[in-house]
Amino acid sequence: MRAIGLVEFGPPEVLHPVDLPDPPTRPATVRVRVRAAAVNPADTYLRSGAQAAALASWPPPWVPGMEVVGVIDTVGAGTREAWSVGQPVVAVVSPLQQHVGGYSELVVLPETQVAPAPARLDPAEAATLPMAGLAALLTVDQLALGRGSTIVVTGAAGVLGGYVTQLARERGWQVIADAAPRDAAAVRRLGADEVVARGSGRDVARRIRQRHPGGADGIADVADLGPGLLPALRDGGRFADLHGRTPSAALGRDAARVDLVAPIVSDYIGRADKLRSVSAYASSGVLVPRIAETVPAVRAAQAHRRLERGGLRGRIVLTVG
Ligand SMILES: NC(=O)c1ccc[n+]([C@@H]2O[C@H](COP(=O)([O-])OP(=O)(O)OC[C@H]3O[C@@H](n4cnc5c(N)ncnc54)[C@H](OP(=O)(O)O)[C@@H]3O)[C@@H](O)[C@H]2O)c1
Repeated sequence: MRAIGLVEFGPPEVLHPVDLPDPPTRPATVRVRVRAAAVNPADTYLRSGAQAAALASWPPPWVPGMEVVGVIDTVGAGTREAWSVGQPVVAVVSPLQQHVGGYSELVVLPETQVAPAPARLDPAEAATLPMAGLAALLTVDQLALGRGSTIVVTGAAGVLGGYVTQLARERGWQVIADAAPRDAAAVRRLGADEVVARGSGRDVARRIRQRHPGGADGIADVADLGPGLLPALRDGGRFADLHGRTPSAALGRDAARVDLVAPIVSDYIGRADKLRSVSAYASSGVLVPRIAETVPAVRAAQAHRRLERGGLRGRIVLTVG
């Protein structure tokens, strides 16, 4: 099979077509023939070498890609679900665990990482859902706020921030989005009730406290603004650090008055029930994918360069096969 991979870590240009043996199924796995794969920030971390230690046990070439849409190609022995060959599916891939990521014609995955594709979406749209949708769902699950609560979403103009905003609205939370003025209308369309101009964590926290003197109930810090945001939280509020970089010690004086949670999507990779929920949210229109561009997989290097330049709105999706 053909894939897009790398044999040395580095800039986008290290990505190139590679030929690999067709992977065989194993018990409780399915083989998916990939139609489209979304390009995520995490793929750039794999490519650049930021995850080299985690990949050390796998020989090159390494193949990035954490979310795909495709059809069932082969059903392994002993699967629990009634998969049928040709069935459209979405799947979340962990190149750190499965070795070969989603930029490939075939992926073999535990069936728990696969779910029926959402109704009514084209493959490129559906490809933006599995990983970012799971991360967004994990974030709102961990924040676990009551209806009517207020949540601050940083990086709300991005794909993950957009999904967190949409799921937060579905839970009946009031969303205060942090976004650039040029993105204000777009994040309101996603469901944000208010928009505060982006800036440092302290700037954003000050703006929120001016409007909400009692403080917000929760923060989903998708843009990684960090502990500077904490003054925006009310006593007993909950801070979701999606980058796993905020040790409790960094909370300083706030440690005693706020809760810290660290939603990392690997906790939901293999949770078939959660992936099916993401697919169902897309079918019902709660999660609305945004595509920046759809390009053939051989243009993966250009896609990485474009993503790393910043300012992208929606995902670049690679068409495969
Ligand atoms: N915890 C997890 O399991 C998990 C899962 C998936 C993703 N992530 C992380 O979540 C982050 C966002 O991912 P994504 O897929 O949503 O990426 P994305 O689509 O590229 O969106 C990132 C958004 O954040 C905005 N942004 C950047 N710096 C900002 C700042 N200082 N203040 C406000 N907004 C800012 C960007 O705006 P500009 O383009 O204008 O800079 C962009 O709109 C990435 O760091 C990713 O690694 C974590």
